[in-house]
Amino acid sequence: MKVLFITDIHWGYSDKGNQRWIKYAKELKAKHPDAIIILGGDNGSNDVRHEIKCLSKMREIFSDNPIYYLMGNHSYWNASGRSEIFVENSKTYTLDGAQKIHQAIYDCAKLLNIKYLPESPIIDHESKFIITGVSGWYESTQFYTNDCNHINNWSESDEWLRKNCYEEFQKTIPLHETYRSKGYKTVLASHFHFHGDIFDWKTSNGSWFGANRSYAQFMTYTDENWFGHTHRSFNKVLDKVHYINTGTDYAKPSHLESFT
Ligand SMILES: [Fe+2]
Ligand SMILES: [Fe+2]
Repeated sequence: MKVLFITDIHWGYSDKGNQRWIKYAKELKAKHPDAIIILGGDNGSNDVRHEIKCLSKMREIFSDNPIYYLMGNHSYWNASGRSEIFVENSKTYTLDGAQKIHQAIYDCAKLLNIKYLPESPIIDHESKFIITGVSGWYESTQFYTNDCNHINNWSESDEWLRKNCYEEFQKTIPLHETYRSKGYKTVLASHFHFHGDIFDWKTSNGSWFGANRSYAQFMTYTDENWFGHTHRSFNKVLDKVHYINTGTDYAKPSHLESFT
């Protein structure tokens, strides 16, 4: 099975970037992947409509392929902090708070037949691997990240996001444990990474741009973590987990090579 990972599309960042992604995705389609995983989080630029547009565009291009996705910082930032009504496929959503934004994206993806990886892991019995997914959020909520400017009802959103991320992450542990004992390769797909040694992203006030670093210690049964978000290329084994990111930057498409 050939799986293609795509990261940090940032649809809507610029017209040029959008066009680059369309061209690039078409080239990737010609490589005949069996499944596509969009390491979400930064699918859209500054609006939920960008996120949905991104997913629908990928669905249009990879018309015959199973597509999976997960969410991250831009998903929850987008269009939040404003009293905005979003209408997609005849449904109306109020986007006041991260949980509602999450639901809106989730529903729209479902209508596009794009699967939410945290609840639909890929298990290939032939090649013997499992890919689970987890949506993520920042470990830190310091003002520097501007999170509180982007999320309405930040304190509530923060609590829900942390809880959701934690629960999704916890669900991957017994799955990885079970399948590794059967000799499967175990892969965690995420927008954020979980290891503090990937980049020192501390700012002058101590803020951290990565996910909850304490989760890394629970990745005992995980062989690989394919992630996005950093916009920097990374490929390194830390504490026996292989961390991989292509380093896709704004409007500059790249992808992670597949494995079989
Ligand atoms: Fe990004
Ligand atoms: Fe991100």
